[in-house]
Amino acid sequence: MAEEKKIAETVADVSRRQFFVKLGLGSLSIAAVGTTVFAYQYLSPNVLYEPSPIINAGKPESYALDSVTLDVNSGIYIIRAKEGFFSLSAVCTHLGCLTAWKPELGVIACPCHGSKFRQNGEKIEGPAPKPLPWKRMWVNDDGDLMVDRSTDIHPMEFVRV
Ligand code: FES
Repeated sequence: MAEEKKIAETVADVSRRQFFVKLGLGSLSIAAVGTTVFAYQYLSPNVLYEPSPIINAGKPESYALDSVTLDVNSGIYIIRAKEGFFSLSAVCTHLGCLTAWKPELGVIACPCHGSKFRQNGEKIEGPAPKPLPWKRMWVNDDGDLMVDRSTDIHPMEFVRV
């Protein structure tokens, strides 16, 4: 009888030991996974991937003389005037709404608070504090009009093709 009790205590002792070993291994595994996740996040570059500011606006022939073309996706106008091509930002300088060309009025108008701009970007009226900026434009080796949305230039720098 005493022998059986001693064996039962030994079995209970072993299972308790196994339980704590498994608990310890489980805890270490969870800590290892957490450490790996944080290390991966720490070592990953903290970079915001944005689309390129360089836009290919296509062939000059595709723009009629005295035309104002809005590229909604890139937020720029491609304007073909008598003096040549130029590009304007289509983003209002007040609070950043996308403006629209109104051919019946001959102005670029902002739908948000009513700012209006001339075809060359000059402000006519409204709360916008500055004119629409001109963007750097050039013709690449394939003869396509290119615009750098990230670079403002002085007004009246036309691209002649
Ligand atoms: S955002 Fe254009 S006028 Fe306010």
